[in-house]
Amino acid sequence: MDGIICPAPWNSLHFFEAGRVYTCCTGWVKSPVGSLRSQTISDIWNGPEVQSMRKKMLEGAWQEICRPSCPFIQWHLSGGRYVKFADLEKHGVIPAAADEIRAGKTVVSTPPTVFNFSNSGYCNLKCIMCNTNLKEDNDLLERAYNDFITYLPTARKVILSGWGDPFARPDTRKILTEFDGSRYPDLKFSLITNGLLLKRYWERIKHQNFAGINISVDAATKETYEKIRVGGRWEDLIENLDLVRENRGRFSEIVINMTVMRANYREIPAFVDFGESYGFNVVFQKITGRCGDQNFFLHGDRKLIAEVKAMLKEIQASRKARKISVDVESNFGNLLSGEDPDGERRLHALLNYWGWKLTAPVSKAVELLKGKPGTPGHPD
Ligand SMILES: C[S@@+](CC[C@H](N)C(=O)[O-])C[C@H]1O[C@@H](n2cnc3c(N)ncnc32)[C@H](O)[C@@H]1O
Ligand code: SF4
Repeated sequence: MDGIICPAPWNSLHFFEAGRVYTCCTGWVKSPVGSLRSQTISDIWNGPEVQSMRKKMLEGAWQEICRPSCPFIQWHLSGGRYVKFADLEKHGVIPAAADEIRAGKTVVSTPPTVFNFSNSGYCNLKCIMCNTNLKEDNDLLERAYNDFITYLPTARKVILSGWGDPFARPDTRKILTEFDGSRYPDLKFSLITNGLLLKRYWERIKHQNFAGINISVDAATKETYEKIRVGGRWEDLIENLDLVRENRGRFSEIVINMTVMRANYREIPAFVDFGESYGFNVVFQKITGRCGDQNFFLHGDRKLIAEVKAMLKEIQASRKARKISVDVESNFGNLLSGEDPDGERRLHALLNYWGWKLTAPVSKAVELLKGKPGTPGHPD
């Protein structure tokens, strides 16, 4: 193969709770590549686990390291596509790292350039679908921070934050307020935030170079917002969204997103109008995990799923007339195309993946598979 399915093992590190480090999302790769409890970033970056991942990726043996739920793997599975060696730079790989990939290196001299922080749940809210209740290890967090900041001058993309809130977490807030990013034009911060503390810190962070900002809103009304985003006030959200609108030129993309669940699905159409009133793009994503009775996808509530499907289809159909982009496919593609209403596609993907043959009726197997995390197509 004159390329690789995914360049992550050569350029990216994600920090997760308890010090675990992965080369991308925990749900997409099979195992961590190290732990910041006992190792430094440098130990991990050319350690045996990452070397082995690079080797498997070069061999095309993704089954041994990745899960089919990863979008790169799904992209590969649907049509045998991959990243050609000649196109590595187009996928965000810096030229020196691209050369090392092309040379087949598993021990590299280029540092990681993409970082994602999902290693602390410190947050100013307690949203009903989010689990931020883990015990924080402040010493570990500080050690990770001190190690990480030495990589900032050569980093290209820092995603703050996949868990907790970047302005409530002491470590990520410190990065944004204290690091002089204006000296490093190639370094961009991507923000994933509830947005409520933006105004408080804006004067101290506005010198940074930002890529996109994703503000999680989840509702189109005050009542639903304050029910889901517990601790948040709708009026504060509006003030912060106004600030982002005033500074729209500072972000490559502004997105508001809704995690669709029982408490908010009725507001799906109004949420698109809300985004359009600000000129912000809109993304819908599926809730994962049980979250009490909020995840009606897992509970298999057909009536509700059909209602959501109809709303999303209508949005899809009227999208061209909108001044903003609305993403309903990334997370609801199967539902919209009607491809997999009962999880059959997921079942067959799983059987192919493990090389299993079915001895029970399909309907029984689908029933057993429903909502099992870690299976192909499952959002976890
Ligand atoms: C965990 S938050 C961290 C960043 C920030 N605090 C925020 O709310 O955007 C990242 C994203 O995960 C989403 N999220 C939280 N719990 C979820 C769940 N159970 N299923 C799917 N998405 C979830 C949030 O809505 C948010 O868009
Ligand atoms: S604001 Fe984000 S991290 Fe905080 S509880 Fe809500 S979804 Fe979770």
